[in-house]
Amino acid sequence: MSFKLRMEAAAENARSNLVLALDLPPNTPEKLFATSKNLLETVQPHICAVKFNRHLILPLGLFDGVQQLLKQAQNHGLPTIMDCKINDIGNTNRIIAEHYFQAGFDAVIANPFVGWEEGLHPVFETADQMNRGVILLVYMSHKGAWEGYGQNVVTKKTGKSLRQYEVFAEKALAWGADGAVVGATYPEKIRELHSILTEKVPIYSPGIGAQGGNIEAAVRSGSTYFIVGRAITQAENPSQAAENFKRAANMARRNRPCEV
Ligand code: XMP
Repeated sequence: MSFKLRMEAAAENARSNLVLALDLPPNTPEKLFATSKNLLETVQPHICAVKFNRHLILPLGLFDGVQQLLKQAQNHGLPTIMDCKINDIGNTNRIIAEHYFQAGFDAVIANPFVGWEEGLHPVFETADQMNRGVILLVYMSHKGAWEGYGQNVVTKKTGKSLRQYEVFAEKALAWGADGAVVGATYPEKIRELHSILTEKVPIYSPGIGAQGGNIEAAVRSGSTYFIVGRAITQAENPSQAAENFKRAANMARRNRPCEV
């Protein structure tokens, strides 16, 4: 089963489209591991997947602490995503992807700025060989995202002027990406990009809560998966916070107009 279908099945099973960004503030490796393990255990009934970042990979190590957390997530039927934003030459990209997949990650996030040939082609090839997923950045959630993803570019093929993010959405379709990241902080961009990507490439939206994005607006605009980090991991009651996000998203999905 493809990563895209595994995500659909996990969301259906959990009755949740919430992806936990398991990000914690710096601490000793022992404390980080123990807190992550507990957090995952209490929050898991409300989520459909777990996204990791350097917050844990750097202090815990990929084949040490992180691999144990990956096994824990997998035991709960939760796919795992490495938010490594792969962004180098093809040979290096392939090695990065292989390491994350060998450790047990189900998908990696990659940056389409590096292009296909000797860029992301080896990542998609490796993912195909190992039956894993690739999610592409299309419009990031932070304030400066417009400086890169929002630029006007003239495409080589048609000579037409387009926004960089529109070109990236077309690449996500052409390359067969399993998902596209569009920040929840830009619901108008989600709407625009959803009309290009349709349901063929589901939208993953980070930026909810701590960065000011709103989960209901992301649902209404066409996102499929909702990535939440600090608003859960730093909450007084992470399980309750996750449940609240899950319910809000489910309610908004039920009321979503059918044209989205
Ligand atoms: P917070 O605490 O802001 O955490 O809910 C969000 C998590 O997602 C990452 N992030 C992104 N990852 N594209 C990505 O691939 C983005 O546009 C983006 N915005 C935030 C962030 O690093 C953290 O892990």
